[in-house]
Amino acid sequence: MSNYQTSKEYKIFNNSCYGLSELKNNSIEAVITDPPYGISYQNNYWDKDLPNKKIWQDCLRVLKPGSFGAVFSSIRLMHRLMVDIEDSSFIIKDVMFWVYLNGMPKSRDVALEIDKELKVESKKVGTYKYVQGYKKNGADSYKNGREKDKLEPSSELGNLYKGSGLGIKPAYEPIILIQKPTEQNATVAQNIIKYGTGALNIEQTRIPYEKGEAKVGHNPHPNGRVASNILRTDEFKDGYDKFFLVPKVRQHAEEFNNHPTLKPIEIMHHLVKLLTWENQTVLDPFMGSGSTGISSLILNRKFYGYELDKDYFHIAEKRITNIVKDLSIPTLFEPQTKYKTNKKNGF
Ligand SMILES: C[S@@+](CC[C@H](N)C(=O)[O-])C[C@H]1O[C@@H](n2cnc3c(N)ncnc32)[C@H](O)[C@@H]1O
Repeated sequence: MSNYQTSKEYKIFNNSCYGLSELKNNSIEAVITDPPYGISYQNNYWDKDLPNKKIWQDCLRVLKPGSFGAVFSSIRLMHRLMVDIEDSSFIIKDVMFWVYLNGMPKSRDVALEIDKELKVESKKVGTYKYVQGYKKNGADSYKNGREKDKLEPSSELGNLYKGSGLGIKPAYEPIILIQKPTEQNATVAQNIIKYGTGALNIEQTRIPYEKGEAKVGHNPHPNGRVASNILRTDEFKDGYDKFFLVPKVRQHAEEFNNHPTLKPIEIMHHLVKLLTWENQTVLDPFMGSGSTGISSLILNRKFYGYELDKDYFHIAEKRITNIVKDLSIPTLFEPQTKYKTNKKNGF
């Protein structure tokens, strides 16, 4: 028997998502998920492989015709994931880029490795404080960094390759936008009338005009621009900002949440709003610490989530329970504007 938590508006399962056997055919309006990327990120045991493509067939079964999905992926393996999803009869509609500025390139000093390979001793030219990760006010604010030798290549070939590396700075994560085909021979309108699915909720995700911005285009929509396929969590300061979704940066995750790939709630809000309407149901088969569920409940959507790891499941349970308490479930379906951002919940 499944181990699950339930309320009227959500059900979360502490078991594998494969089969989605608790869910009925054609019953869900959207899948929004951040599955294992298959790149062994930070050596996480659950990230060794991409999900078995069976899960996309399961998603196809439980989604209503015309439903949309958003699937996070990695730069290195999104192509494989897209093939798995497409082979399961979904349509690939777009790839959104979630853009940020704090990614670090994975690299090494190749010039020094060449010296080593040639058995030539590299020159010590000084020392430096080893800095890892981001700190407010930048690297200079690190007082206790470990001191390391600063080396330069000595060999001729090492000098030729001085300054080379093995990768460029990652500044985006892809989010694949997919759709289950609408019912055979049905128009989009007929599909929406029958299932409530088949279109994106552009209206809820418009980007408001900037203060004092002159009127744009021939027929400016009063609520702003249509959201683009670039989503950002950092300021670009280059004049392009107004075209991209501008969410607030999540500064503090809850102290009890140690999930290594926690997704910002603002990005999840955008996806939930884009793919669904109020009272519809969102599925996340790989929910981790429950970010999709939290957004869904805040935005008056229902939620089904699966998480195999017991510890992550308990974190998701705690975060979702906090939200449900905060919203006091009987009034959950009142307008979302009643919900105020709350530090206690970590965003
Ligand atoms: C990338 S993480 C999701 C993180 C999430 N977006 C968050 O904000 O916390 C993917 C999750 O899928 C879970 N997982 C892996 N295989 C699973 C399976 N077969 N069924 C359910 N969950 C699984 C992992 O334990 C991991 O927590």
